[in-house]
Amino acid sequence: MRPTMSDTSDYLADKHFSAIAAIIESRVGIKLPPTKRTMVEGRLRKRARALGLAGVSGYGAHLFERGGLDDELVHLIDCVTTNKTDFFREPSHFEFLRNVAVPQLLRRHDSLPAGLKVWSAACSTGAEAYTVAMVLQDLVNAAKPIRFSILGTDISTEVLREARAAIYPRAFVAPVPSAMQQRYLMRSKDPRQDVVRVTPELRRKVHFERLNLMDESYPFDRDVDVIFCRNVLIYFDGPTQKAVIERLVSHLRPGGYLMLGHSESMAGSGIAGLQQVVPTVYQAAPAALRRAAE
Ligand SMILES: C[S@@+](CC[C@H](N)C(=O)[O-])C[C@H]1O[C@@H](n2cnc3c(N)ncnc32)[C@H](O)[C@@H]1O
Repeated sequence: MRPTMSDTSDYLADKHFSAIAAIIESRVGIKLPPTKRTMVEGRLRKRARALGLAGVSGYGAHLFERGGLDDELVHLIDCVTTNKTDFFREPSHFEFLRNVAVPQLLRRHDSLPAGLKVWSAACSTGAEAYTVAMVLQDLVNAAKPIRFSILGTDISTEVLREARAAIYPRAFVAPVPSAMQQRYLMRSKDPRQDVVRVTPELRRKVHFERLNLMDESYPFDRDVDVIFCRNVLIYFDGPTQKAVIERLVSHLRPGGYLMLGHSESMAGSGIAGLQQVVPTVYQAAPAALRRAAE
């Protein structure tokens, strides 16, 4: 009989859990201590069922005894990442973007020939990237002379698929102010489907790519104006956080901004070329711009 979620006799072998934890920590940067074991087993049980394997114990054997790891790694990563996100999460960042960052970047650069570039690093299912798009498109609608493009990246292929589709349950978009919902979200034509989709106009401004923040270098532009890297550094150890931030900062144009999650603000301290502007918001040199922001 096939094990189910409630089958308490179906566990990962100790050696398989240790091997998975080691692989995830070295490839993704996420620690999986023994306290996470039940969560990991729960998620992998679902994956095992999808593969038609005999429970999570069979999944461990498939990875490590039958050579399944190489093909399965992407899915394994999808299973163990935590993808919680929201529209307008930590809203002060979007107020800062609208009221401080954009006006200042426009003043400094007179014109931005390639347009304003924003990067949502670790974007999950896209709510962060589309929130930025709504805020910037509102500025465009208010006759601000900007063009913009947004890049969303994540290590999980599953969340990227959802981000590209840009279809969300209506309850999930509740934090989007109603005027913005009317401008930027479309109701499904099928009334039985309680979902909305981001308008094509906004979708065209946002594109998504797979990127592992643990990679030695990132194959993206080096004149990004604003980077959001929120609620992912918490999963990394101190040296990894520092290395990731240094790599991200090397993609910021002078005077560009880095937004970190509210529980991660300390991670930006002591990074060369980066100055804290307000808690959780950092700015790349030069100093003249930093003074103006205060
Ligand atoms: C909790 S979500 C945060 C989403 C969004 N930034 C926010 O604050 O709402 C963390 C995201 O980081 C991604 N992630 C974890 N490790 C990563 C890595 N090494 N490289 C890129 N993305 C990673 C996960 O897949 C997940 O989607």
